[in-house]
Amino acid sequence: EIPALKEVLKDYFRVGVALPSKVFLNPKDIELITKHFNSITAENEMKPESLLAGIENGKLKFRFETADKYVQFVEENGMVIRGHTLVWHSQTPDWFFKDENGNLLSKEAMTERLKEYIYTVVGHFKGKVYAWDVVNEAVDPNQPDGLRRSTWYQIMGPDYIELAFKFAREADPDAKLFYNDYNTFEPRKRDIIYNLVKDLKEKGLIDGIGMQCHISLATDIKQIEEAIKKFSTIPGIEIHITELDMSVYRDSSSNYPEAPRTALIEQAHKMMQLFEIFKKYSNVITNVTFWGLKDDYSWRATRRNDWPLIFDKDHQAKLAYWAIVAPE
Ligand code: XIL
Repeated sequence: EIPALKEVLKDYFRVGVALPSKVFLNPKDIELITKHFNSITAENEMKPESLLAGIENGKLKFRFETADKYVQFVEENGMVIRGHTLVWHSQTPDWFFKDENGNLLSKEAMTERLKEYIYTVVGHFKGKVYAWDVVNEAVDPNQPDGLRRSTWYQIMGPDYIELAFKFAREADPDAKLFYNDYNTFEPRKRDIIYNLVKDLKEKGLIDGIGMQCHISLATDIKQIEEAIKKFSTIPGIEIHITELDMSVYRDSSSNYPEAPRTALIEQAHKMMQLFEIFKKYSNVITNVTFWGLKDDYSWRATRRNDWPLIFDKDHQAKLAYWAIVAPE
């Protein structure tokens, strides 16, 4: 019997995992999930494209059956669930931004639709989802104002961000609200996120920053610590590590037929350094979630072979797991 991650780390933060709904049909998956984790995230099933069923006479139609299975699972197993995600440029149907003639909505109409969407979704999961990624990946450090030129931005300008948080707050005042993004430790991006979140925090509209952490053997761990340190200076802010995985590559072109032993050792070493930092900042870091249960389920293994997680395809603990559990 190997140690349960959630036990080993219980004095520091919750330990989470992102799941596709197929795991609920697989007893071996369920065993691994319930043993090690006390938080889950739906990998795709709570995104707008999954929850939106269409539109009828200008009113949004929803389907919650699959998402509700996640909620049922956490209730049966004494876990919590993070809601991912309300407002994103990706995995949101094109029609959501358009009227019946196929034209982009006006700012006023889009604001109404944003409100309807958030009220319905956050309302549906009120008291069940403990933390929401309200806005995902809105920052683009290459823009002069630091904001991504998404359809949201195109229609509403920067205002959609604060409005989304305001509507989410109204819909469930007890849910923790997060801004979530990748490469949050890249210095320019980090500083833009810092300013954005600081402002929302002063207005009482946000509770935390989600640092995705889709990283690799090339990632500079020191930069991650710098970002955590900076974010933690915002009074009262929480940090969730929301989407942790670590590619075994240093570049985008390699493709190993098999995981090289040296790469897995290096991965374990880096994972150890990373968790030492997470533990050091556990006064602000309250949840660390892996983006996938086991290597063969990882989204990063769809384009090329990769082994970015801590359990292998046979549900066996990898060196990276042992580096977390027994860092000495
Ligand atoms: C990914 C899922 O893992 C894939 O299954 C899906 O095809 C695309 O989205 N940032 C996020 C996550 O916020 O929602 C993304 O998840 C990974 C990047």
